Amino acid sequence: MDKLVIEGGVSLRGDVRVGTAKNSVLPILAATLLTREPCRIVDAPRLRDVGTMLRILPALGVECERDADGSIATRVVDERACEAPYELVKTMRASVCVLGPLVGRRRRARVSFPGGCVFGPRPIDLHLKGLRALGVELDIEAGYIVARAENLRGASMYLGGAFGPTVTGTANVLMAAVLADGVTHIHMAACEPEIQDLARFLVAMGADVRGIGTPVLEIHGVAELHGATYRPVPDRIEAGTFLVAAAITGGNVTVRDCRPEDLLAVIERLEAVGCGIETGADWVRCARRGRLRAADITTLPYPGFPTDLQAQFMALLTLADGVSVVTEKIYPERFMHVAELARMRARIRREQHLAIVEGTEYLSGAPVLASDLRASAALVLAGLVAEGETQVRRVYHIDRGYERIEEKLAHLGARIRREEDEEGA
Ligand code: EPU
Repeated sequence: MDKLVIEGGVSLRGDVRVGTAKNSVLPILAATLLTREPCRIVDAPRLRDVGTMLRILPALGVECERDADGSIATRVVDERACEAPYELVKTMRASVCVLGPLVGRRRRARVSFPGGCVFGPRPIDLHLKGLRALGVELDIEAGYIVARAENLRGASMYLGGAFGPTVTGTANVLMAAVLADGVTHIHMAACEPEIQDLARFLVAMGADVRGIGTPVLEIHGVAELHGATYRPVPDRIEAGTFLVAAAITGGNVTVRDCRPEDLLAVIERLEAVGCGIETGADWVRCARRGRLRAADITTLPYPGFPTDLQAQFMALLTLADGVSVVTEKIYPERFMHVAELARMRARIRREQHLAIVEGTEYLSGAPVLASDLRASAALVLAGLVAEGETQVRRVYHIDRGYERIEEKLAHLGARIRREEDEEGA
């Protein structure tokens, strides 16, 4: 197992490029189950989670090949297999995205029930509700969701839950509905850029999806889909993480190959804490000279502030003058980073789904334990500015969603290296 060793105190400067979005690529790869024709996903990032999907798809009869240029070529060679096994699904919740396309195309599926995760319960009741509305019979047997559909027929449904829309739930229902008979309306559909991207990929495959990017998706079922070549959108969470890296180190970083329009809520909050932001068609520059000011953040479904940047932004707020309130409205328990940041001298108090962050003069480097992907990123960011050395253990979490993060940060001047962690977990 590896760890990242960071010597804090360098202001990051320069340009960094972000890859294509993990949360687009995963459902898009799952969508290749919907056709027997070859598909090509261009510039797919080399992430652990993508690797997991590339192990699940062959178990479902899909040949997958990674080309030297980074693209992934897929082709369905056998449509009999329908089981996504526990061993693979348990390592990545997004594996549940194969449920919709399996039932859409093969009319049956056996997918391990994903279970909870370190940041609390992660139900899939809305996925199941939407699929049932399309006529899918669903049951839970031996830890598996067992799905069968004689006929899939379009339906109108409301997919909102207590915390708003569901991202992968919308993806699953959308992928089943594209091959259903008739018209489907998904009300309260997720509007995240990654869902828009999946919808565009499906359209490139011959699907008829209208209302992309709005809370009402209208899907006119078609008989067949064909192959497609597609480049997913840039990763707005990776981009946001580098912008926060510039802000926290008092640096000046230009994030290239990103989409500023996907980052509006993040840009607005960076300005609120005292950063200067410039944007171009496909880049965002973040620079900070003065002190950081406290600011509140509230996570919300897109286009609100993303929960996937809450931990990183909290690391930033630990050094702001004043008191900031972080309100987590998507995952009320997504605060594992709080205790580790406290080991670095941060002053944070948790009250249910709120964290109250009182700015501190400086952070102090420490050995810390990463518990999930975005929490690990927050600890790395804190390490970049902390006095002395920070060791972030269990970095396999970070490798799930950031490609070569230490190389990209080192290119911006950070003193960071990857080492084997002899103490293991
Ligand atoms: N929810 C339900 N019922 C459901 C589904 C969701 O109540 O059937 C609740 C959840 O418990 C949560 C809220 O609805 O409170 C939103 O959950 P959502 O279903 O949107 O989350 P997800 O699809 O499981 C995706 C991303 C996450 C990201 C969330 C929120 C992928 C593969 N994962 O998860 O990304 O945090 O949307 O934006 O797209 C990450 O990349 O680090 C990550 C965790």
